[in-house]
Amino acid sequence: MWSQFWWVIYPYLTLGLMVIGAIYRVIDRPIGWGSRSSEILEKNMLRWGSRLFHWGIIFVFGGHVVGLLVPIEVFHALGIPDEMYHVTADIFGGLAGIAAWLGMLILLVRRIFHPRVRKNSSVADILAVFLLFFVITIGDAVTLIYNNVVGPYEYRTTVNPWIRDVLVFHPDKTLMLHVPLIIQIHIVVALALLAVSPFTRLVHIWSLPIRYAVRAPIQYRARHLYQKRVG
Ligand code: HEM
Repeated sequence: MWSQFWWVIYPYLTLGLMVIGAIYRVIDRPIGWGSRSSEILEKNMLRWGSRLFHWGIIFVFGGHVVGLLVPIEVFHALGIPDEMYHVTADIFGGLAGIAAWLGMLILLVRRIFHPRVRKNSSVADILAVFLLFFVITIGDAVTLIYNNVVGPYEYRTTVNPWIRDVLVFHPDKTLMLHVPLIIQIHIVVALALLAVSPFTRLVHIWSLPIRYAVRAPIQYRARHLYQKRVG
């Protein structure tokens, strides 16, 4: 009965909320769409935290697309042995996951302990940071600890077909029944994160801000440096 809820009903509750929430948000507050910059409040921690997190998460996202949406038969047809896949996924996923985790740790500490940032944070800002940190910590625990202590988990025969079935509205809960609990928790919390994303600063994910990665890092310049440069 619980498996029916978590692996058949819950994904549509959360993904549905995400889609409806995004539509509501764009109608209700089109100008507020985006991630309101907090750079003016604190710059140094943001510079390191944001860069590490964003570069890390871009590669984590790429890894999720390949590992969760490409059928295992495609890897086999391309002659990629399972062991090679898992070693490569562990190394690249692990490095990207550590970068994203470190960045998120810096952003979390900044949001909670920096007085000016904290004072200007909404409940939604704080919730988004905690959820992100939690999802990334559990994901990293799978890739870096579970896979190396228990052995590489073959999610390409369980989570992968389950996700693809969810996307075509034909989910098969039996695929998820024997997935390790730590991965089940990762997925449940990740879906919750997606559900609340339109109501938080994470909404900017959905406008594919590719230019964010290469945009000028400094928007607010210290006055004395600015004067030196122009003067
Ligand atoms: C429903 C959506 C998701 C599913 C099914 C999923 C599934 C997985 C799985 C199976 C792993 C383990 C990979 C391995 O064994 O190497 C993993 C790792 C990870 N996940 Fe997710 N995940 C989802 C969403 C997310 C989200 C939204 C985030 C971050 C915001 C995230 C962050 C991570 C990180 C940082 C890792 C460790 C690094 C890596 O292996 O890529 N995941 N995820």
